[in-house]
Amino acid sequence: MDERYPFALPPLPYGYDALEPEIGGRTMQYHHDKHFAAYIENLNRLLAGQSAYQKWSLNKLCTDWEELPQDIRQGVRNNAGGVFNHALYFENLAPTPVSSPLAPLSGAIARSFGDSETMKNVLKTAALGQFGSGWAVLCADKGGELRVVKTANQDTPLPLHPLLVCDVWEHAYYLDYQNRRGDYFDSWWRLVNWPRVSHDYEIWMSRRIPVPQP
Ligand SMILES: [Fe+2]
Repeated sequence: MDERYPFALPPLPYGYDALEPEIGGRTMQYHHDKHFAAYIENLNRLLAGQSAYQKWSLNKLCTDWEELPQDIRQGVRNNAGGVFNHALYFENLAPTPVSSPLAPLSGAIARSFGDSETMKNVLKTAALGQFGSGWAVLCADKGGELRVVKTANQDTPLPLHPLLVCDVWEHAYYLDYQNRRGDYFDSWWRLVNWPRVSHDYEIWMSRRIPVPQP
């Protein structure tokens, strides 16, 4: 993402209760207005007075955080990742989702997983297998092949391109599902905004840099 300091909280692209009954309005309100907002505020606070790094894009902050001064390094890692992951999370969902991926993403799913149900199961295994807080992510590599990764805390899968992120921090589901992360995943899956995810894949494929031939 190309956003730069000062970062602003994007509005939720639908109403708080628009995803009910899968995800409750109270969960969405706290998740967006408190948790997501806190990552934005913390990142801006960490970068205030750091003019050399205020021009860094969000992507660069997420990938090159090890180059930052020691006193802000871990904070930027956590909060830039939190901003990046949550921006995608809320965009990935929709109140009236289309039930299946569109071309060319559908073709990539067939090549990488066989079918959408298999991909869902791989993603669910990652979501359930992430110990503690983190994310399960459907990613595309530079060649357009798909893969599923899990990340801890607020780490991102960059430089792999994340297409679809499932937040498995308890704040994403505890009010609605308590300890039942698998039930939350199944509900979350029904909300996926496949037109948006498919379009993102199409853009990624059109922008990728051809591998030089020897
Ligand atoms: Fe979250």
